[in-house]
This record gives sequence, structure tokens and C-alpha cells, in this order.
Amino acid sequence: MRIDIFTLFPEWFGWLSEQRHVANVLSGGSSIECVNFRDHTPLTGGQVDDTPFGGGAGMVLRVDVMDAALRGRYGVDPVELRRRRRVIALAPTGRLLDDGLVDELAGEPELTLLCGRYEGFDERILEHFASDVVSIGRYVLSGGELAAMVLCDAVLRKLPGALGDERSAHEESFSAALEGNPEYPHYTRPAEYRGWKVPDVLLSGHHERIEQWRRERSRERGAGEASGGH
Ligand code: ADE
Repeated sequence: MRIDIFTLFPEWFGWLSEQRHVANVLSGGSSIECVNFRDHTPLTGGQVDDTPFGGGAGMVLRVDVMDAALRGRYGVDPVELRRRRRVIALAPTGRLLDDGLVDELAGEPELTLLCGRYEGFDERILEHFASDVVSIGRYVLSGGELAAMVLCDAVLRKLPGALGDERSAHEESFSAALEGNPEYPHYTRPAEYRGWKVPDVLLSGHHERIEQWRRERSRERGAGEASGGH
């Protein structure tokens, strides 16, 4: 998978690329490349944003700057580009990222992520250049970079070779293997600590019973979640 990230802070993504499961995928032929809006802006002094029409606090990323950055990278009109590849703007108003969307994106050969700053994007960027607007939660971050990293982390760990044990990505929270439910609890040594015991079944070596116990705990957690509990 090839991921291009448009950002004012390309250096932040060095950290992401060094994380073990990301590095594993990158060494298998995938890539994460950053494009700095400032390197493409047609405005003087590296300007990329402006004050909002109608007044209000904060700065808004300009549509002409985004147009120039996308054209500079891909050599096509961004209006056309979004028909050819997923161009995802990260914004708190977007579609909530969940395991289903992560799976969908993990199946794409190429992704383009657009990170807004300050008050975010001129709306025309979302309307005309983005194929998707994605939010990682109903709260406001100072920019899209952390959201882009969350998306990359979640997507890349689904790719072959990311995790040491391929089962870990298959049977984890919210996956189809667990019927969309949260994952069952895990325990490791010591088997007893301060009187807190690991469930006997997990020490039994009886794989069918362990499997059944895990399914039950996972379903219980799903039911608890639906009713607002843990
Ligand atoms: N940019 C700012 N807040 C965000 C959020 N919650 N999700 C995605 N992008 C964002």
C-alpha cells in the first residue's frame, strides 16, 4: 500500500514509520510519504491558510493551496484525482473511523490523507477534492496529523506481515471473527497475584472450552457495550 500524507508537519511521521508493525509493512514494499503544503503554495512567504470569511477565530487551510499541492504531487486536477484513489480529509465532522472502515481502507492500493490545522479546511476542499472525510472521534484535535497517524496505524496493522502472529489481527476487537464484539480478556503469568486468579479454564489446556469461554466473554462485553457498560 502506498500512503501519501499532506501536512505542514512531515517530520512528525518519522516516529510513525519507526513503529515495529509499521516498519514491518514498509520493509515489505509499502510506503508512507509526506508532502508539505508549504512546498507547493503559490502564495508568498509560504502562506497556506487565511482568516475565515464572516469572521471568527482561527485560520482556515486555503483551497488554492490544496489544489496546488495535489496537482504538484499527482500532475492531475484533484477533482479528477478523487475518482482514481481515496483522498481522505481528516476532520472532526467526518465519518467515524471504525473497524469496518479500517478494513475497507486496508483493501485499497493507495491512500491520500489530508491533514488540516487550526480551524481546518476551506469547505470546498472537502466538497471537491476529498473522496472521504473521516473523523477519529467526536472531539476536536489541533490538527489532522494525529488522526492520520491513528488511521495509518489501524490500517497498516491489518496488512500481511505487520504483526508477528497473523492471528492477532484476525481475531481482535470488533473483527468479523468476533462477530463485531470487543475482544475477550487476556491474562499472563503469574496465574495468581494478590489473590486475583486467572480463570481456571485458561489453564486447563482444553482448547475447545477455552475457545467457547472466549466467545462468551466477547459476546458479554458486546452486550455490555450496547447497554452502555464496560
Ligand atoms: N482534526 C481535528 N479533530 C479531528 C478528529 N477528531 N478526527 C479527525 N481529524 C481531526
